[in-house]
Amino acid sequence: MVTVHRPLDDVIRQLAEVLRGGGLVAVPTETVYGLAADGTNAAACRRIFEVKERPTNDPLILHLHDAERVPQVAEFPEVGRRLAAAFWPGPLTMVLWKRPVVPDLVTAALASVAVRVPSHPVMLRLLAACELPLAAPSANPFGYVSPTTAEHVVASLGGRIEHVLDGGPCSIGVESTIVDLRRPDEPVLLRPGGVPLEDLEAVLGRPVALGPAAGTTTHGMARDDEAQTAPGQMTRHYSPRTLIRLHGTLTTAFASRLPPDEAALFLARPPVEPPPRNWRWLSDGGDLREAASHLFAVLRELDAGGYATLHAELAPDRGLGRALNDRLRRAAARESLAAGSGGDPRSLL
Ligand code: TXA
Ligand code: MG
Repeated sequence: MVTVHRPLDDVIRQLAEVLRGGGLVAVPTETVYGLAADGTNAAACRRIFEVKERPTNDPLILHLHDAERVPQVAEFPEVGRRLAAAFWPGPLTMVLWKRPVVPDLVTAALASVAVRVPSHPVMLRLLAACELPLAAPSANPFGYVSPTTAEHVVASLGGRIEHVLDGGPCSIGVESTIVDLRRPDEPVLLRPGGVPLEDLEAVLGRPVALGPAAGTTTHGMARDDEAQTAPGQMTRHYSPRTLIRLHGTLTTAFASRLPPDEAALFLARPPVEPPPRNWRWLSDGGDLREAASHLFAVLRELDAGGYATLHAELAPDRGLGRALNDRLRRAAARESLAAGSGGDPRSLL
Protein backbone atom coordinates (compact mmCIF):
# COMPACT_ATOMS: atom_id res chain seq x y z
CA MET A 1 0.00 0.00 0.00
CA VAL A 2 1.31 3.40 -0.95
CA THR A 3 1.25 6.26 1.59
CA VAL A 4 1.38 9.90 0.51
CA HIS A 5 3.21 11.77 3.26
CA ARG A 6 2.94 15.44 4.16
CA PRO A 7 6.42 16.92 4.68
CA LEU A 8 6.36 17.21 8.49
CA ASP A 9 9.65 17.05 10.41
CA ASP A 10 9.14 13.61 11.93
CA VAL A 11 7.92 12.24 8.58
CA ILE A 12 11.12 13.48 6.95
CA ARG A 13 13.15 11.78 9.69
CA GLN A 14 11.19 8.55 9.21
CA LEU A 15 11.64 8.58 5.42
CA ALA A 16 15.36 9.33 5.84
CA GLU A 17 15.53 6.08 7.86
CA VAL A 18 13.70 4.21 5.07
CA LEU A 19 16.34 5.47 2.62
CA ARG A 20 19.23 4.64 4.98
CA GLY A 21 17.80 1.11 5.28
CA GLY A 22 17.90 0.63 1.49
CA GLY A 23 14.24 1.48 0.77
CA LEU A 24 12.68 3.64 -1.96
CA VAL A 25 10.88 6.98 -1.53
CA ALA A 26 9.27 9.07 -4.28
CA VAL A 27 10.44 12.63 -3.66
CA PRO A 28 9.52 16.11 -4.87
CA THR A 29 12.07 18.21 -6.73
CA GLU A 30 11.59 21.56 -8.47
CA THR A 31 11.79 19.79 -11.87
CA VAL A 32 9.82 16.53 -11.61
CA TYR A 33 9.19 13.95 -8.88
CA GLY A 34 12.02 11.45 -8.48
CA LEU A 35 12.17 7.85 -7.25
CA ALA A 36 15.00 7.98 -4.71
CA ALA A 37 17.32 5.42 -3.15
CA ASP A 38 20.70 5.48 -1.37
CA GLY A 39 23.08 6.26 -4.25
CA THR A 40 25.92 4.34 -2.59
CA ASN A 41 23.84 1.14 -2.17
CA ALA A 42 23.74 -0.95 -5.36
CA ALA A 43 20.95 -3.25 -4.10
CA ALA A 44 18.74 -0.26 -3.27
CA CYS A 45 19.41 1.27 -6.69
CA ARG A 46 18.58 -2.03 -8.37
CA ARG A 47 15.04 -1.72 -6.95
CA ILE A 48 14.68 1.63 -8.79
CA PHE A 49 15.35 -0.08 -12.12
CA GLU A 50 12.93 -2.91 -11.28
CA VAL A 51 10.10 -0.63 -10.18
CA LYS A 52 10.45 1.64 -13.24
CA GLU A 53 11.16 -1.27 -15.60
CA ARG A 54 14.10 0.84 -16.67
CA PRO A 55 16.95 -0.77 -18.62
CA THR A 56 20.16 -0.85 -16.57
CA ASN A 57 22.10 0.83 -19.41
CA ASP A 58 20.32 4.12 -18.55
CA PRO A 59 22.36 5.73 -15.73
CA LEU A 60 20.88 7.62 -12.76
CA ILE A 61 21.42 11.16 -11.43
CA LEU A 62 22.87 11.58 -7.91
CA HIS A 63 21.19 14.32 -5.86
CA LEU A 64 23.38 16.04 -3.28
CA HIS A 65 22.52 18.43 -0.46
CA ASP A 66 25.14 21.00 -1.49
CA ALA A 67 28.03 21.57 -3.88
CA GLU A 68 30.62 20.97 -1.10
CA ARG A 69 29.72 17.28 -1.25
CA VAL A 70 30.49 16.84 -4.97
CA PRO A 71 34.16 15.85 -4.40
CA GLN A 72 32.94 12.86 -2.35
CA VAL A 73 31.43 11.33 -5.50
CA ALA A 74 33.21 12.98 -8.45
CA GLU A 75 36.07 15.16 -9.63
CA PHE A 76 34.86 18.76 -9.56
CA PRO A 77 36.62 20.98 -12.11
CA GLU A 78 36.76 24.76 -11.80
CA VAL A 79 34.14 25.23 -14.52
CA GLY A 80 31.77 22.99 -12.56
CA ARG A 81 32.27 25.11 -9.46
CA ARG A 82 31.46 28.19 -11.49
CA LEU A 83 28.22 26.66 -12.81
CA ALA A 84 27.35 25.47 -9.29
CA ALA A 85 27.77 29.00 -7.92
CA ALA A 86 25.43 30.32 -10.63
CA PHE A 87 22.75 27.62 -10.82
CA TRP A 88 22.74 25.46 -7.66
CA PRO A 89 20.58 24.69 -5.92
CA GLY A 90 18.55 24.35 -9.12
CA PRO A 91 17.69 22.44 -12.30
CA LEU A 92 21.21 21.81 -13.62
CA THR A 93 22.89 18.37 -13.76
CA MET A 94 26.62 18.02 -14.43
CA VAL A 95 28.29 14.91 -15.83
CA LEU A 96 31.68 14.53 -14.09
CA TRP A 97 34.40 11.87 -13.70
CA LYS A 98 33.20 9.62 -10.88
CA ARG A 99 34.89 8.35 -7.74
CA PRO A 100 34.95 4.59 -6.88
CA VAL A 101 32.33 5.00 -4.10
CA VAL A 102 29.61 5.33 -6.80
CA PRO A 103 28.31 1.84 -7.72
CA ASP A 104 28.52 0.78 -11.37
CA LEU A 105 24.77 0.28 -11.43
CA VAL A 106 24.21 4.01 -10.88
CA THR A 107 26.39 5.00 -13.83
CA ALA A 108 25.69 2.03 -16.13
CA ALA A 109 29.39 1.24 -15.65
CA LEU A 110 30.43 4.56 -17.22
CA ALA A 111 33.46 6.31 -15.74
CA SER A 112 31.33 9.44 -15.28
CA VAL A 113 28.46 10.26 -12.95
CA ALA A 114 25.60 12.78 -13.25
CA VAL A 115 25.13 15.01 -10.17
CA ARG A 116 22.85 17.85 -9.17
CA VAL A 117 21.84 19.90 -6.12
CA PRO A 118 18.05 20.35 -6.30
CA SER A 119 16.35 23.47 -4.92
CA HIS A 120 13.06 22.03 -3.64
CA PRO A 121 13.04 22.83 0.11
CA VAL A 122 11.40 19.50 1.05
CA MET A 123 13.99 17.53 -0.94
CA LEU A 124 16.79 19.55 0.70
CA ARG A 125 15.42 18.73 4.16
CA LEU A 126 15.33 15.03 3.24
CA LEU A 127 18.89 15.17 1.86
CA ALA A 128 20.07 16.85 5.08
CA ALA A 129 18.29 14.25 7.23
CA CYS A 130 19.57 11.14 5.45
CA GLU A 131 23.11 12.43 4.77
CA LEU A 132 23.33 10.34 1.60
CA PRO A 133 23.67 11.09 -2.06
CA LEU A 134 20.25 10.08 -3.41
CA ALA A 135 20.06 8.38 -6.81
CA ALA A 136 16.75 9.41 -8.36
CA PRO A 137 15.37 9.12 -11.88
CA SER A 138 11.94 10.55 -12.64
CA ALA A 139 9.26 8.64 -10.72
CA ASN A 140 7.40 7.22 -13.71
CA PRO A 141 7.40 3.89 -15.53
CA PHE A 142 10.25 3.97 -18.08
CA GLY A 143 9.32 5.91 -21.21
CA TYR A 144 6.14 7.52 -19.87
CA VAL A 145 5.44 11.20 -19.11
CA SER A 146 7.34 12.41 -16.00
CA PRO A 147 5.29 13.18 -12.85
CA THR A 148 4.94 16.76 -11.62
CA THR A 149 2.58 16.08 -8.69
CA ALA A 150 2.37 13.41 -5.97
CA GLU A 151 -0.94 12.32 -7.57
CA HIS A 152 0.87 11.61 -10.86
CA VAL A 153 3.32 9.36 -8.99
CA VAL A 154 0.51 7.46 -7.28
CA ALA A 155 -1.36 7.08 -10.58
CA SER A 156 1.50 5.31 -12.34
CA LEU A 157 3.67 3.75 -9.60
CA GLY A 158 1.24 3.56 -6.65
CA GLY A 159 0.97 -0.22 -6.85
CA ARG A 160 4.74 -0.70 -6.71
CA ILE A 161 6.08 1.66 -4.03
CA GLU A 162 5.29 2.38 -0.38
CA HIS A 163 6.22 6.02 0.12
CA VAL A 164 5.50 9.26 -1.73
CA LEU A 165 6.64 12.50 -0.11
CA ASP A 166 4.27 15.27 -1.21
CA GLY A 167 5.95 18.60 -1.88
CA GLY A 168 3.19 20.06 -4.03
CA PRO A 169 3.32 20.66 -7.80
CA CYS A 170 6.82 21.03 -9.28
CA SER A 171 7.59 24.67 -10.09
CA ILE A 172 9.85 24.05 -13.13
CA GLY A 173 7.91 21.04 -14.42
CA VAL A 174 10.52 19.74 -16.91
CA GLU A 175 13.67 17.81 -16.02
CA SER A 176 17.04 19.40 -15.32
CA THR A 177 19.41 20.60 -18.01
CA ILE A 178 22.30 18.13 -18.33
CA VAL A 179 25.75 19.41 -19.25
CA ASP A 180 28.72 17.12 -19.85
CA LEU A 181 31.87 18.51 -18.19
CA ARG A 182 34.12 15.50 -18.73
CA ARG A 183 36.23 17.79 -20.89
CA PRO A 184 35.96 21.02 -18.87
CA ASP A 185 37.10 23.18 -21.79
CA GLU A 186 34.42 21.76 -24.08
CA PRO A 187 31.09 21.62 -22.24
CA VAL A 188 28.37 19.74 -24.13
CA LEU A 189 24.59 20.03 -23.65
CA LEU A 190 23.20 16.51 -23.27
CA ARG A 191 19.60 17.45 -22.45
CA PRO A 192 17.85 20.84 -22.57
CA GLY A 193 15.95 21.44 -19.32
CA GLY A 194 15.13 23.88 -16.56
CA VAL A 195 18.25 26.03 -17.01
CA PRO A 196 18.14 27.70 -20.45
CA LEU A 197 21.11 27.13 -22.75
CA GLU A 198 21.50 30.90 -23.09
CA ASP A 199 21.99 31.24 -19.29
CA LEU A 200 24.64 28.49 -19.29
CA GLU A 201 26.50 30.19 -22.13
CA ALA A 202 26.30 33.57 -20.41
CA VAL A 203 27.96 32.20 -17.26
CA LEU A 204 30.57 30.21 -19.21
CA GLY A 205 31.24 33.09 -21.58
CA ARG A 206 31.37 30.69 -24.52
CA PRO A 207 29.05 28.64 -26.71
CA VAL A 208 28.00 25.19 -25.48
CA ALA A 209 28.00 22.41 -28.08
CA LEU A 210 24.80 20.40 -28.53
CA GLY A 211 25.23 16.68 -27.79
CA PRO A 212 23.75 13.96 -30.00
CA ALA A 213 20.43 13.80 -28.14
CA ALA A 214 20.03 17.49 -27.31
CA GLY A 215 19.39 18.77 -30.81
CA THR A 216 16.68 16.69 -32.44
CA THR A 217 14.75 13.48 -31.86
CA THR A 218 16.01 11.76 -34.94
CA HIS A 219 19.62 11.59 -33.78
CA GLY A 220 21.26 9.25 -31.36
CA MET A 221 19.18 6.11 -31.33
CA ALA A 222 21.21 4.01 -28.91
CA ARG A 223 21.60 0.29 -29.24
CA ASP A 224 19.96 -1.43 -26.27
CA ASP A 225 23.17 -3.09 -25.15
CA GLU A 226 25.14 0.15 -24.94
CA ALA A 227 25.26 2.48 -21.96
CA GLN A 228 23.34 5.67 -22.52
CA THR A 229 26.15 8.17 -22.80
CA ALA A 230 23.65 10.93 -23.41
CA PRO A 231 20.22 11.17 -21.81
CA GLY A 232 17.07 10.23 -23.61
CA GLN A 233 19.02 8.69 -26.44
CA MET A 234 16.16 6.37 -26.96
CA THR A 235 14.19 8.64 -29.20
CA ARG A 236 10.75 7.76 -27.97
CA HIS A 237 10.51 9.02 -24.43
CA TYR A 238 8.05 10.93 -22.28
CA SER A 239 5.39 9.27 -24.43
CA PRO A 240 1.70 9.36 -23.69
CA ARG A 241 -0.56 6.86 -25.44
CA THR A 242 -2.27 9.48 -27.57
CA LEU A 243 -0.70 10.06 -31.00
CA ILE A 244 0.95 13.46 -31.16
CA ARG A 245 1.33 15.60 -34.26
CA LEU A 246 3.58 18.63 -34.03
CA HIS A 247 2.89 21.97 -35.66
CA GLY A 248 5.15 25.00 -36.13
CA THR A 249 2.06 27.16 -35.70
CA LEU A 250 -1.37 25.89 -34.77
CA THR A 251 -4.08 28.10 -36.27
CA THR A 252 -7.52 28.49 -34.72
CA ALA A 253 -8.96 27.82 -38.19
CA PHE A 254 -7.25 24.40 -38.29
CA ALA A 255 -8.15 23.58 -34.68
CA SER A 256 -11.82 24.51 -35.24
CA ARG A 257 -12.13 21.84 -37.91
CA LEU A 258 -10.81 18.99 -35.70
CA PRO A 259 -13.18 16.10 -34.95
CA PRO A 260 -14.15 15.75 -31.25
CA ASP A 261 -11.71 12.88 -30.66
CA GLU A 262 -8.74 15.06 -31.66
CA ALA A 263 -7.38 17.75 -29.36
CA ALA A 264 -5.41 20.95 -29.95
CA LEU A 265 -2.65 22.13 -27.61
CA PHE A 266 -1.72 25.80 -28.06
CA LEU A 267 1.21 27.59 -26.50
CA ALA A 268 -0.88 30.65 -25.57
CA ARG A 269 -4.60 31.09 -24.94
CA PRO A 270 -6.26 31.36 -28.38
CA PRO A 271 -8.57 34.36 -28.96
CA VAL A 272 -11.79 32.33 -29.26
CA GLU A 273 -14.55 32.54 -26.62
CA PRO A 274 -15.67 30.16 -25.37
CA PRO A 275 -12.80 27.84 -26.33
CA PRO A 276 -13.96 24.45 -27.74
CA ARG A 277 -13.86 21.51 -25.29
CA ASN A 278 -10.98 19.83 -27.12
CA TRP A 279 -8.65 22.87 -26.91
CA ARG A 280 -5.95 23.39 -24.27
CA TRP A 281 -3.14 25.89 -23.88
CA LEU A 282 0.04 25.90 -21.80
CA SER A 283 0.15 29.53 -20.66
CA ASP A 284 -2.45 32.31 -20.89
CA GLY A 285 0.12 34.78 -22.18
CA GLY A 286 2.38 32.28 -23.98
CA ASP A 287 5.15 32.60 -21.37
CA LEU A 288 7.69 29.84 -22.14
CA ARG A 289 8.62 29.15 -18.51
CA GLU A 290 4.99 28.82 -17.46
CA ALA A 291 4.20 26.75 -20.57
CA ALA A 292 7.01 24.26 -19.83
CA SER A 293 5.85 23.89 -16.23
CA HIS A 294 2.36 22.84 -17.38
CA LEU A 295 3.35 20.50 -20.22
CA PHE A 296 3.46 17.12 -18.46
CA ALA A 297 0.25 17.66 -16.48
CA VAL A 298 -1.62 18.65 -19.67
CA LEU A 299 -0.24 15.64 -21.59
CA ARG A 300 -1.44 13.35 -18.80
CA GLU A 301 -4.85 14.97 -18.72
CA LEU A 302 -5.30 14.69 -22.48
CA ASP A 303 -4.05 11.10 -22.43
CA ALA A 304 -6.64 10.21 -19.79
CA GLY A 305 -9.27 11.99 -21.89
CA GLY A 306 -8.93 9.24 -24.48
CA TYR A 307 -8.19 11.47 -27.46
CA ALA A 308 -6.94 9.60 -30.52
CA THR A 309 -4.66 12.43 -31.68
CA LEU A 310 -3.23 15.54 -30.10
CA HIS A 311 -2.12 18.43 -32.32
CA ALA A 312 0.56 20.31 -30.38
CA GLU A 313 2.17 23.62 -31.20
CA LEU A 314 5.97 23.91 -30.95
CA ALA A 315 7.49 26.83 -29.02
CA PRO A 316 10.22 29.16 -30.27
CA ASP A 317 13.61 27.44 -29.78
CA ARG A 318 14.86 29.74 -27.02
CA GLY A 319 14.78 29.82 -23.21
CA LEU A 320 12.53 27.11 -21.77
CA GLY A 321 11.09 26.66 -25.29
CA ARG A 322 14.05 24.39 -26.08
CA ALA A 323 13.19 21.93 -23.27
CA LEU A 324 9.48 22.17 -24.09
CA ASN A 325 10.10 21.32 -27.76
CA ASP A 326 12.51 18.52 -26.86
CA ARG A 327 9.86 16.84 -24.66
CA LEU A 328 7.13 17.36 -27.27
CA ARG A 329 9.32 15.87 -30.01
CA ARG A 330 10.14 12.84 -27.88
CA ALA A 331 6.50 12.35 -26.93
CA ALA A 332 5.65 12.50 -30.64
CA ALA A 333 8.52 10.27 -31.78
CA ARG A 334 6.33 7.21 -32.17
CA GLU A 335 4.42 9.13 -34.81
CA SER A 336 7.52 10.32 -36.70
CA LEU A 337 8.94 6.81 -36.60
CA ALA A 338 5.69 5.25 -37.78
CA ALA A 339 5.53 7.74 -40.62
CA GLY A 340 9.13 6.87 -41.40
CA SER A 341 9.70 10.56 -41.97
CA GLY A 342 12.55 11.33 -39.60
CA GLY A 343 12.24 14.78 -41.10
CA ASP A 344 11.22 18.12 -39.67
CA PRO A 345 8.09 17.50 -37.60
CA ARG A 346 6.91 20.98 -38.60
CA SER A 347 6.27 19.61 -42.06
CA LEU A 348 3.42 17.46 -40.73
CA LEU A 349 0.96 20.34 -41.06
O1 TXA B 1 15.28 16.92 -13.23
C1 TXA B 1 15.83 15.82 -13.23
O2 TXA B 1 16.97 15.64 -13.68
C2 TXA B 1 15.03 14.65 -12.65
C3 TXA B 1 14.84 14.89 -11.15
C4 TXA B 1 14.22 13.71 -10.46
O3 TXA B 1 16.06 15.26 -10.58
N1 TXA B 1 15.67 13.41 -12.90
C5 TXA B 1 15.73 12.85 -14.13
O4 TXA B 1 16.31 11.62 -14.15
O5 TXA B 1 15.29 13.39 -15.12
P1 TXA B 1 16.18 10.61 -15.36
O6 TXA B 1 16.75 9.34 -14.88
O7 TXA B 1 14.78 10.57 -15.86
O8 TXA B 1 17.15 11.19 -16.43
C6 TXA B 1 18.51 11.18 -16.17
C7 TXA B 1 19.29 11.18 -17.43
C8 TXA B 1 19.20 9.83 -18.09
O9 TXA B 1 18.51 9.92 -19.34
C9 TXA B 1 20.64 9.40 -18.26
O10 TXA B 1 20.87 8.90 -19.54
C10 TXA B 1 21.46 10.70 -18.01
O11 TXA B 1 20.66 11.46 -17.14
N2 TXA B 1 22.72 10.38 -17.35
C11 TXA B 1 22.89 9.92 -16.12
N3 TXA B 1 24.20 9.67 -15.87
C12 TXA B 1 24.87 10.01 -16.99
C13 TXA B 1 26.25 9.96 -17.37
N4 TXA B 1 27.19 9.52 -16.55
N5 TXA B 1 26.58 10.41 -18.62
C14 TXA B 1 25.62 10.87 -19.45
N6 TXA B 1 24.30 10.90 -19.16
C15 TXA B 1 23.93 10.48 -17.95
MG1 MG C 1 13.03 10.26 -16.90
